[in-house]
Amino acid sequence: MKFFIDTANLQQIQEAQDLGVLDGVTTNPSLMAKEGISGEQNVIDHYKAICAIVDGDVSAEVISTTYPEMIAEGEKLAALHPRIVVKVPIIKDGIKAIKYFSSKGIKTNCTLVFSAGQALLAAKAGATYVSPFIGRLDDISVNGLDLIAEIREIYDNYGYETQILAASVRHSAHILGCAKIGADVMTGPISAIVSLLKHPLTDSGLAQFLEDHRKVSQLNSN
Ligand code: E4P
Repeated sequence: MKFFIDTANLQQIQEAQDLGVLDGVTTNPSLMAKEGISGEQNVIDHYKAICAIVDGDVSAEVISTTYPEMIAEGEKLAALHPRIVVKVPIIKDGIKAIKYFSSKGIKTNCTLVFSAGQALLAAKAGATYVSPFIGRLDDISVNGLDLIAEIREIYDNYGYETQILAASVRHSAHILGCAKIGADVMTGPISAIVSLLKHPLTDSGLAQFLEDHRKVSQLNSN
């Protein structure tokens, strides 16, 4: 399973990249706003800075909601770097735009997906990635992982190549659940990735190893 980080924060992206397990980045307009990024040139510069850090795909979301505007904006974004993936919301004009981008060889990430029907349409339009938001479904007491399983089943039934990018991941149990189901990618905060490391027996075991080593070294040096 590929690991993407869901942030526009350059420090966190660098930190995840340095960990050696990062496969890509997803951003959205709220994440860009959180970093205070606005204005065409600043947005362009920021995406370029992200692409300079990571080796994998970087999702850049369009702000437009009409077909012609999405095409113009998406083509500009795609031209910034070969690793840019144009992120498009699952609305009528968005599906048309995904179909267009896929015919031009431009990678897409169909976002704001909350149902299997939406995911089916995204695959039919040729999306590179589909982003079901599992954390936001959990927030309204709907099991987000069930949606990932449903989409996996549908895509496997027909051999759709669209990659399931489990989004709105909040914690390590989400990541493990996605891995068991067979999501292709997960995107979440660095805290969720790092928390996969944690186990109390690892901490106590390491403390014991180091203490035993220290004791015998002390003994031998006397
Ligand atoms: C998807 O690509 C979105 O950026 C993201 O995962 C949304 O997550 P949130 O629900 O934590 O805002």
